[in-house]
Amino acid sequence: MEKNIEKVLLSREQIQAKVLELAATLSEEYADKDPVFVGVLKGVVIFFADMVREINIPCEIDFMCVSSYGGTSSTGNVMIKKDLSVDIKDRHVVILEDIYDTGRSLDATYRYLLSKEPASLEICTLLDKPERRVDGITLKPKYVGFTIPNEFVVGYGLDFNEHYRNLPYIGVLKPEAYQN
Ligand code: IMP
Ligand code: MG
Repeated sequence: MEKNIEKVLLSREQIQAKVLELAATLSEEYADKDPVFVGVLKGVVIFFADMVREINIPCEIDFMCVSSYGGTSSTGNVMIKKDLSVDIKDRHVVILEDIYDTGRSLDATYRYLLSKEPASLEICTLLDKPERRVDGITLKPKYVGFTIPNEFVVGYGLDFNEHYRNLPYIGVLKPEAYQN
């Protein structure tokens, strides 16, 4: 195991099983809807790539990049760094996210996409950390992989200062890794 990881929260196998389950649900619910799956970069890339390869219906994919974070605490500022390239008006859209934390960036992304008048808009997040939600955020993702405790996690796309995204599992960092 990577030396800065204190413990594995979700193993490669647990994640893989959950991806199969979520992808089966989406394939069934969007079978005749030609949905657009929108990934929120960069944290979602690994989850996104695994998900879409298990989704066996016609669909399109697109990406957005929003930013609200520096280090381990949210600033509350959300900036659109990369916009969609597909026109989602009257399309069925599912936002794929790595983690629903304070909710600020996903809430802003959701409202932004809603303004483009999609036929429907839902959220699928691999991880949900409900204890971290800030006041005023009422969005409820329809599809949630795992509800996790209030710990800072890395791996499977999630980073700390841009590192650890490549770990094949989701783990908790050792406290000393924050200080270096
Ligand atoms: P928000 O606080 O819900 O707006 O989350 C914003 C972004 O912060 C997420 O998309 C992640 O990229 C990042 N983030 C939140 N919690 C964690 C974590 O535990 N580990 C790594 N990144 C996180
Ligand atoms: Mg992210």
